[in-house]
Amino acid sequence: MRQFGLIGYPLGHSFSKGYFTEKFKREGIDATYNNFPMASVQEVPALMLANPLLEGFNITIPHKETIIPYLHSANDVVKTIGACNCVKIQDGKMQGFNTDVIGFELSLKKYLRKEHAKALVFGTGGASKAVQYILSKLGIEFIIVSRKMESNDGTINYGSLTEDLLRSSTLWINTTPVGMYPNEDSILPLNYEAIGARHYLYDLVYNPAETRFLKEARQRGATIANGYDMLIIQAEESWRIWNSNE
Ligand SMILES: NC(=O)c1ccc[n+]([C@@H]2O[C@H](COP(=O)([O-])OP(=O)(O)OC[C@H]3O[C@@H](n4cnc5c(N)ncnc54)[C@H](OP(=O)(O)O)[C@@H]3O)[C@@H](O)[C@H]2O)c1
Repeated sequence: MRQFGLIGYPLGHSFSKGYFTEKFKREGIDATYNNFPMASVQEVPALMLANPLLEGFNITIPHKETIIPYLHSANDVVKTIGACNCVKIQDGKMQGFNTDVIGFELSLKKYLRKEHAKALVFGTGGASKAVQYILSKLGIEFIIVSRKMESNDGTINYGSLTEDLLRSSTLWINTTPVGMYPNEDSILPLNYEAIGARHYLYDLVYNPAETRFLKEARQRGATIANGYDMLIIQAEESWRIWNSNE
């Protein structure tokens, strides 16, 4: 039986195990997908030794960045953004990939229109880096918004968001965990009155399906998308990589 899995901490509510277990059953694939909770990424070599048949694993919070020194090789996306969420193991060697990037690109494009040429990206973590990589690739101008002090790279903080900027930036992307279960009542501190029907609000959070961020947008006639499609696409891309000759 083929073996795959997920590392991260904690892994209580993670989506991947359920998704792959159901997929393997539905498609008659003789494979298992197990959770390997680990508080420290230093446990990866021991995991490899204890599971010599493991062909690949996904990586979630908090190890997407700290896994990189353990990789034997990494593709260009991982090297550029400094985050890896998919490892393929061949002959005991770990190759690193980032499937969040394609998951975000394909899911964003579903509702993207020409008028969404200026974006605001809320948050500066690993998911934000994947989002920034794709916005640059698609030629979409963006400003990063953070709780931290303003910095030289153009990142601004929430207090600097003018109504004009919120109106003219018709693509808003939440890459923070704000609004995620079990904190569904929380919402980013923004002037939601600036949203109009031309806006497109994308929330990487997928649980709940409609965060308060998305609800504010839907009530004003804007286009909305949650992170569910991204999640499915990144999982399927991992499966493709584990079965390819890349
Ligand atoms: N749908 C998918 O497939 C998918 C894939 C990856 C991630 N995600 C989701 O994306 C979210 C972020 O993931 P991540 O890996 O980037 O996490 P992360 O590395 O912890 O970064 C999150 C960023 O959000 C900001 N932030 C955190 N708490 C905040 C708060 N209370 N208020 C305002 N901003 C806050 C921080 O930026 P500042 O300190 O600069 O403000 C932080 O760097 C999670 O909810 C995750 O589930 C979804």
